[in-house]
Formats: sequence, structure tokens, C-alpha cells
Amino acid sequence: MDKVFSAPRGMKDVLPDEEIYWRNLYRAVEKKCEGFNFKKIEPTIVENKELFDRSVGKETDIVNKEMYEVKRFTESSEERASETLCLRPEITAGVVRTFIENMQSEALPIKLWYFSPMFRAERPQAGRLRQFYQFGFEILGDETPMADALLIYLSTQILEKLGLKKSLIVEINSIGCESCRPKISKNLIKYLQKYRKNLCPTCQDRLKTNPMRVYDCKVLTCQQVILEAPQTMDSLCGGCQTDFRKVLEGLEDLEIKYDLNPRLVRGLDYYTKTVFEIKDEEDLNRQSALGGGGRYDNLVEFLGGVKTPAVGAAFGVERLILKMKEKNINVGELPKPKVFVVAIGEKAKKNAITLIKFLVEKNISQDSALGRESLKSQLKMADKSGAKYAMIIGQKEILDGTIILRNLEVGRQETLDWKKLEKQIKKVA
Ligand code: HAM
Repeated sequence: MDKVFSAPRGMKDVLPDEEIYWRNLYRAVEKKCEGFNFKKIEPTIVENKELFDRSVGKETDIVNKEMYEVKRFTESSEERASETLCLRPEITAGVVRTFIENMQSEALPIKLWYFSPMFRAERPQAGRLRQFYQFGFEILGDETPMADALLIYLSTQILEKLGLKKSLIVEINSIGCESCRPKISKNLIKYLQKYRKNLCPTCQDRLKTNPMRVYDCKVLTCQQVILEAPQTMDSLCGGCQTDFRKVLEGLEDLEIKYDLNPRLVRGLDYYTKTVFEIKDEEDLNRQSALGGGGRYDNLVEFLGGVKTPAVGAAFGVERLILKMKEKNINVGELPKPKVFVVAIGEKAKKNAITLIKFLVEKNISQDSALGRESLKSQLKMADKSGAKYAMIIGQKEILDGTIILRNLEVGRQETLDWKKLEKQIKKVA
């Protein structure tokens, strides 16, 4: 037997029975983003790998272990040496890349949103896929703490529209700017050195390369060490302290409840100052946020642009859909066809085509299964489609110049006249 193909490991097709969730989610995001005057952006899915080395960070799992390389089967070694392409594991770096390339000279701030696929070769499990969608937003060119608060507000507004607001927890922290970061690192290293033996080998290395990453190590012994570690908030410079206070005040003004989480640093290197995650209360002990983000005031400059402060956040679409299912949130139904056209015999099927054209021109949604022969099997499909009416053409109707209109909900039927169809179709519309 020929090989039977399946979706790649850890990747999932989005099937029609989930469409209603995707549609609700997309529409909620689109509506709220438009309400905040964000413009949609779609950077390329494939990017230069170096972009992520320099933004997300070479030492992070996302870049170090989970990135997919993209290359042509026929690529020459010179071509390959000139640039390495990859599937994007996240999109903020791409948004900044295209901002520098295309938008830097425009009036700031620029507010952008996206709803796009990402790729990370993580160990697959519920809510953790190798191809997944994120929606998110980035504000470029606004350094005020109000931007941070408003971005969190936009996030909670979307989650509220999806019916998820009641059980949400906003966790927030500040990890400082370039002037307080050395002090934060120094205090942390001093503390961690004392417990070096208890740290996993990766975290022992991180002491040299990136000590902040120890905060979100998933290994139990490291988590125990970090419980008593100095808090980033205690070593903030005056400016970062004031800004963080203003972010929190902004959240209070917007009536958003938050929890300070001194251990939250997020897994990507580009963050400065505010970082946050939004979780469901049921998932507090699981490492699975619905979304997260923060400030990245140095990234534009770091990637070769003019220094531009920025803040953003992204949410996992599949994770939100799982959550909506878990909570039995009423998502409504997809629209059903108004009319199902049924035809028995060759001649009737030919007339059915004309009838379908007529319905389309009248903007009446329709469906049919003209590949099926019997009345019974076509009516079965009509029931399955959820159509309110069936319009039936059989041998007799061809001779009479008529069509049977059956109301499938109540089982009643009447005869329409082809010649008077223009007028009679109003019953259906
Ligand atoms: P992130 O925390 O890596 O942040 O991802 C954001 C969200 O994407 C997560 O909270 C989760 O819901 C979802 N997600 C991540 N990995 C997976 C996966 N393997 N399977 C399913 N869902 C996943 C970022 O990506 C940043 N770019 C967010 C940001 C935007 N920061 C500033 N602007």
C-alpha cells in the first residue's frame, strides 16, 4: 500500500469544526484593534536567522533548540553561506525588521497588529504546538507607561469579548533598563553563587551568560533557589521605579486587577522595564500563559534602526480556543445555507444549475449535492446542511414548470411557478 501521509509531528490542521472559534477570535481581535486604531501587518513568515539570534537571543530555547531552518534542496554552499533562513518562532523581531525597513520615517507612534502562524519545535503537548498562531500588537515610538497600561487594557478587552475575562490573572513585573540591569544582574549572581550546586547545569552556565534566565528555569531545584532570590523590582533605578508605578496606576485607573510577580522575566532577551503575562486562574501552577509581552525599548536600535521605544504583547490562538472549550463558552453557530437545491434526473439537474444561479444573484445562500441521485439521499444532505428550505425539482416539476418549496423546519411544502419565481422567492429571502 502507498504511504499514508499525516500532519507533521506537533502540528495540527485547523478543521472546519473549529472554524467558529477561529472566526470569533479573529473578529474580536480585528474589532478591538480597529477600535484602538491599530493597523494590520503581515511580515514574512521566513526571516534571516540572525534576526532572532540578535533579538530573542542566542541562548534562549526558542532560538537555540526550537528553530526550523528553511533551505532549498538545490541550494549551493555559497548561497547557504550568505544567509541562513528560518521559519519565524515569534513575530516581534520581524515587525521591528519591517518597521526599520519601511516605516521608520513616518510619524510616531505606529501601532500594529497581527494574526499569524509561528513555528517552534517544542515537545508537543496540549496547548503546545510546533506550528501555532499568535495574535498580538506592537506600539512603536511611545515611551510612556500609559502605552504599557493601554496595551494590557486592549488585551483584556479582547479576552473579555471572548468570554474569558472573569478568570484572568495579569502578572506583571519590571526588569529594568540598561542602567539598572547591571545592578540587578550583580545582586542576582551574588545570590545564585551561594546555591550554585543546586542549580541545573544549564543554569550554572547561565550564571555566566544570562543570569536573568535562571528566574524562569523550569527545573524544580532551580525554582526552589529562585524563590528567595533578590527581586528585580528592588534594584530598579529611579526612572524605572517611577515608570513602573505609573503603569500600575494606569492599570488601576483602567480597573484591571494585577498580581506583582517578582520572578517574571519572560523567556526572550529583548525585554526592558515592564513585562507581563496573562493566565487563566486554573493554570497558575502550569507554565502556560495565554499571552504575554512587555517593553523592548532597545530593540529597534539594536537591530540597526533609530532608537525607538516600543511595547507589545502576543497571545496563543490555539491555547485560547482550548480555554474557551474548557469553559464551555457559547460561540454560536456558523451561518447555514438558506436553501438546499434538490434535483432528480439529468434534466432536473440542468435546471437546478439555473436555479442556483438565480439564488446566487438574489444573494440567497444555497447548497446542493447534485452528485447524489435519489430524493432521499439529497434530502438527507439538506438536513445535514441545516438549510431552512429545500427547493426540489423532479420529473413532474419539469413538465409543469414548477419547483417544490419545502420548509424543512416545519415539514410543510408548496409549489412555486418558474415564471413567477422572481416574486415568489421573497418568501425565502
Ligand atoms: P511568547 O510568550 O513566547 O511571547 O508567546 C506568546 C504566546 O504565544 C504564549 O503566551 C502562548 O500563548 C503562545 N505560544 C507560545 N509558544 C507556543 C506553542 N509552542 N504552542 C502554542 N502556543 C504557543 C512572544 O512570542 C512575544 N513575541 C510576545 C511579544 C510581542 N512581546 C512583545 N511583543
